[in-house]
Amino acid sequence: MSFQLNLRRLRQNPWIRDLSREVRVHSSQLIQPLFVVEGLRDREVVPGLTGVYRDTSQTILAQIEKDLEAGARKFLLFGVPGEKKESGFSYDFTSSAIESIKKQFGSDLFLAVDVCLCSSTTHGQCGILSDSYDHVMNHQTVVELAKAATAYAQAGADCVAPSDMMDGRIAAIRESLEEAGLEQTLLMSYSAKFHSKFYGPFRVAADSAPKGEVKLKDRATYQIDPGRPSDALASSLRDAEEGADILMVKPGLPYLDVLANLKREIPTLPWAVYEVSGEYAAIEMLAERGLMSGVDAHVESWTAFARAGASMIITYGARNGRKWLGE
Ligand code: PBG
Repeated sequence: MSFQLNLRRLRQNPWIRDLSREVRVHSSQLIQPLFVVEGLRDREVVPGLTGVYRDTSQTILAQIEKDLEAGARKFLLFGVPGEKKESGFSYDFTSSAIESIKKQFGSDLFLAVDVCLCSSTTHGQCGILSDSYDHVMNHQTVVELAKAATAYAQAGADCVAPSDMMDGRIAAIRESLEEAGLEQTLLMSYSAKFHSKFYGPFRVAADSAPKGEVKLKDRATYQIDPGRPSDALASSLRDAEEGADILMVKPGLPYLDVLANLKREIPTLPWAVYEVSGEYAAIEMLAERGLMSGVDAHVESWTAFARAGASMIITYGARNGRKWLGE
């Protein structure tokens, strides 16, 4: 006697679908990006990113308070200083934002801070340019990044997260943190960050698009080429070796294959994935036009990240996580 395979028996109602599900996302896995911008009079909305703001040093505190009430406790802060320079940057604005957040909320929240120079430079590149403005100088940039990361850690950041893609920055930052006696500070590397068009809305929020009369027009000479997944493996292995505690794939959905593969190759470190601004905004815009349910599509994307191996998800929707996930 032979039975026809009945796969639909386990799909027949929500109860058995709940019970047989292998992968689920919980709001405790989500990290909410925050932007704090110097010199703003009032906070501003970010085009494309519903419910995300460019905050002032004051409004950010009220926003965080609201987020904590909604159950969102993990944040990734981007500081956007008012004065743009080519070198000799100041990290004071972002550091004082970190201090005031930590002073008000202490260990009620987990505060990671993005480390990069693109919001500080006149030209929007992620580092210091050569005299002829045709390339980012690796060593000089790494020295600056280590200074920035150490300043943020000293100001109270629980985690520093370099997103620049220079070579050797993880080792330099780890060494600088150790020298400053900051051995508890977590180091999350954007280790598999691709050269992507999906960063569009972010660059408006962080005032960081490549610009100006310089020869270098994009970030292709330091971010990973979309067709080079083995480069993502090399850079993640290297960053693990240099002392990263957490590795990351970015963007998310277009690079799920990379995430699944890297999680298999390097199973011993936790993996983060960044659902970047363009991916997030794409869902929001489809939903606004009535073409799909935004909430369900966000949850579906997050489930894909968990299925591919991410243990934490950086998403602009984190502050809605508890509600959207029906917890
Ligand atoms: C800065 C940085 C970027 C993002 C995070 N850190 C943009 C870029 O590299 O151009 C993108 C995040 C997003 O799109 O949500 N280096």
